Amino acid sequence: MASRHNLIETLDSINKSTFDGDENSRAAATIAAKKLFQRLEAPWERMYEEVLVQPMRMMAVKIASDVKLWACLDSMPQTCAQLAQKTGTDKGFLQRILRVLVAMTYVEETDLDAYVETELSKTLKEPEGLSRGLDVYCMASLKQIEHGPEFFRRTGYKISEDMSQAACKWVMGMPEYEGGIWEMMDEIGWTPKFNSFLSGMRTSQPSWAPLWPVKEKLLDGWDGKSVLLVDVGGGKGRDLSNLAATIDETHPGARLVLQDRPSVLEEAKASGMHRQIETMPHDFFQPNPVHGARAYFEHAVVHDWPDKEARQILMQMKSGMLPGYGKILLMETIMPARAKNVDSKLACIDMQMGMNFCALERTEEQWKALLESVGLRYVGHQPVYGNTCMIEAELP
Ligand SMILES: C[S@@+](CC[C@H](N)C(=O)[O-])C[C@H]1O[C@@H](n2cnc3c(N)ncnc32)[C@H](O)[C@@H]1O
Repeated sequence: MASRHNLIETLDSINKSTFDGDENSRAAATIAAKKLFQRLEAPWERMYEEVLVQPMRMMAVKIASDVKLWACLDSMPQTCAQLAQKTGTDKGFLQRILRVLVAMTYVEETDLDAYVETELSKTLKEPEGLSRGLDVYCMASLKQIEHGPEFFRRTGYKISEDMSQAACKWVMGMPEYEGGIWEMMDEIGWTPKFNSFLSGMRTSQPSWAPLWPVKEKLLDGWDGKSVLLVDVGGGKGRDLSNLAATIDETHPGARLVLQDRPSVLEEAKASGMHRQIETMPHDFFQPNPVHGARAYFEHAVVHDWPDKEARQILMQMKSGMLPGYGKILLMETIMPARAKNVDSKLACIDMQMGMNFCALERTEEQWKALLESVGLRYVGHQPVYGNTCMIEAELP
């Protein structure tokens, strides 16, 4: 009995600081903890959690955002009545919502009827960044739950590789929309929210540059004159900023080029750019205007596209490469071949890719086949953090 008690105490004592900044171990522990949870739950608890508890959690978080609860909380304890007055909600109602939020660690109750902010609520206080995900994904997720099963029933339970047939168009009530998802996001006003969410996520993720051998793989062999790295579909430039921060003292003259759609680059410039980063509007279905760069890099771009379009993007990245000098770097997740090794987050992102873009998260074998199909040689891959890897390819 004593050892069981000790075990629970040990589990309760684990937190982020246990991993002392080791991001990979922290991420691996979150996966192990979820698996532990699943091993311990009875089937009825599991069903309860999935169909009843999770949707209510999402609703509570959305309501808290709508009434700007995060901005009202601070490190000084406040009563429910004070928070109800600030948020314009009924005290009895807010108390019930607060119970859900305290259980979810969005709010901490330090004493009876004394509520303070937490790391999560402080993050959501920022109007830009992760909080924007709530604007975009709460609505999209609800529509997916409501309309996804009907969509797949109608299509014979398959995911088409034809992007005009993407589930998201039907789910979002725009089945006749002729453009792609990125244009559809522009049309419904989601692009700035999505970009803000993505850059918030990237800011919270570890920088790739210190976790990957930049010196051996990129700088050694660079001629010192050509563009060092082109980030294709680089969004607001977080990955290039990470690289710049790592090399700006040793290589202050290295040119880093950020390519994306013009509207995204305008947003990127408005948020400020490292002096070594040049912005260059570019449609990645057209030949890359930068010739002879040391590396053509992309992060989470190819996973947005089915094989036909992915091949076109890679062909255009390849068009600027010099044999024996340039390389292609894809920072992407690699789907483990066995389902038992796949984290539920990655499995669900793969379904999102399928529903939104008719795309997929690829296994190593699929990445290799994709690269070889456009005449590139797959050199190999190295883990960066979590499931994210750097896949390297070159001209044969
Ligand atoms: C999932 S985001 C990844 C952004 C960035 N690489 C990151 O990981 O933070 C995909 C990016 O592709 C860009 N994109 C979509 N279609 C494009 C096109 N035809 N040409 C260039 N960029 C495009 C989007 O604007 C978006 O910034």
